[in-house]
Amino acid sequence: MMTQIMNQNSPAATSTDVLLELRDLKTHFHTHDGIVRAVDGVNLKLNRGRILGIVGESGCGKTMLTRTVMRIAPEPAAKISGDILWHRPDGQTTNLAQYPVHSKSLRNIRGKEIGMIFQEPMSSFSPIHTIGNQITEALRTHYRISKKEAKERVINMLYQVGIPKPSERYEAYPFELSGGMRQRAMIAMALICEPTLLIADEPTTALDVTVEASILKLMKSLQVQLNMTIMIITHDLGVIAKLADDVAVMYLGNIVEQGPVSQIFDNPQHPYTQALLTSMPRIKTAFKRLETIQGSVPGPYEVLPGCPFAPRCAEAVDHICTAAMPALLPIPDAGEHLVRCFMREEVV
Ligand SMILES: Nc1ncnc2c1ncn2[C@@H]1O[C@H](COP(=O)(O)OP(=O)(O)OP(=O)(O)O)[C@@H](O)[C@H]1O
Ligand code: SF4
Ligand SMILES: [Mg+2]
Repeated sequence: MMTQIMNQNSPAATSTDVLLELRDLKTHFHTHDGIVRAVDGVNLKLNRGRILGIVGESGCGKTMLTRTVMRIAPEPAAKISGDILWHRPDGQTTNLAQYPVHSKSLRNIRGKEIGMIFQEPMSSFSPIHTIGNQITEALRTHYRISKKEAKERVINMLYQVGIPKPSERYEAYPFELSGGMRQRAMIAMALICEPTLLIADEPTTALDVTVEASILKLMKSLQVQLNMTIMIITHDLGVIAKLADDVAVMYLGNIVEQGPVSQIFDNPQHPYTQALLTSMPRIKTAFKRLETIQGSVPGPYEVLPGCPFAPRCAEAVDHICTAAMPALLPIPDAGEHLVRCFMREEVV
């Protein structure tokens, strides 16, 4: 059942700046071999008009986190709990976690208020329909407008995302476009309804460096133009440096450090973030495996007592780090910079 919470009932929603707020969000898979805690208690606030980058090694839960926010995680296999609070500009807050997964309300929000672009555009487009028809359909699903008007808007959007000869490309099938053009077409599809939030999961990983740079530039300019908020997942800290305002570092289903990009890059506090940055001294190449950190991400079924990073952490202290899970706490006098590490907590 859908729940609507007015701002006055929701103390955390009093700031009109917060667009999306996650509270103790979990996505668990109960498998024959045990529970996979893909997302394991994420608390996060995303402010309007900001670009948040989400980074972390493979398997840390980045994709599952954003799919859970959009409620496109493979439910019911994926068990979701916690709150996904969507704060609208009109002052209403809706908890997306409480909608039935196939509800019309959720379908209305997806695509219209929250748009998503994926790493591989072929998975978003049907091969048997033209690009133009598919984007037009996405628009007409949410707005009652004539086919003619919808087509005009789609051609205009194809032009805005930098597709040359948009009227001709409107009639193209996905396989007729290059990788970069398909990616632009997918951005056009995600933006056609001018969503408040754009979620992008590795949108440039499959592209070469030149195309990547132009796609990032495009995303940034559309973000300013449409006053959008963006959540972007990437393996590549260079992408974060070029595009994002804030960054959240994920490890084993949880956020271990979060804050403005400049602070995290200049003064990383969590040993995991420090290792991520050390692994990419010139912030140029994407990381797949961290040479500078011993070991690897534990298997999905391993539940470790204490700090999940302890087995790989050079700073771990026996009986402290393995006794309890550290909380994500603000660093004193560092504004919005938060870190989850016992060794960074203020001694009182
Ligand atoms: N359908 C599923 N059933 C069980 N476990 C799953 C399922 N889908 C994902 N997982 C697990 O959830 C965890 C998080 O996966 P996720 O895809 O979110 O990672 P990621 O950070 O996006 O990794 P990558 O950088 O490789 O894309 C992984 O351990 C993965 O194996
Ligand atoms: S809490 Fe301990 S194990 Fe975890 S990151 Fe901090 S120092 Fe390392
Ligand atoms: Mg992923």
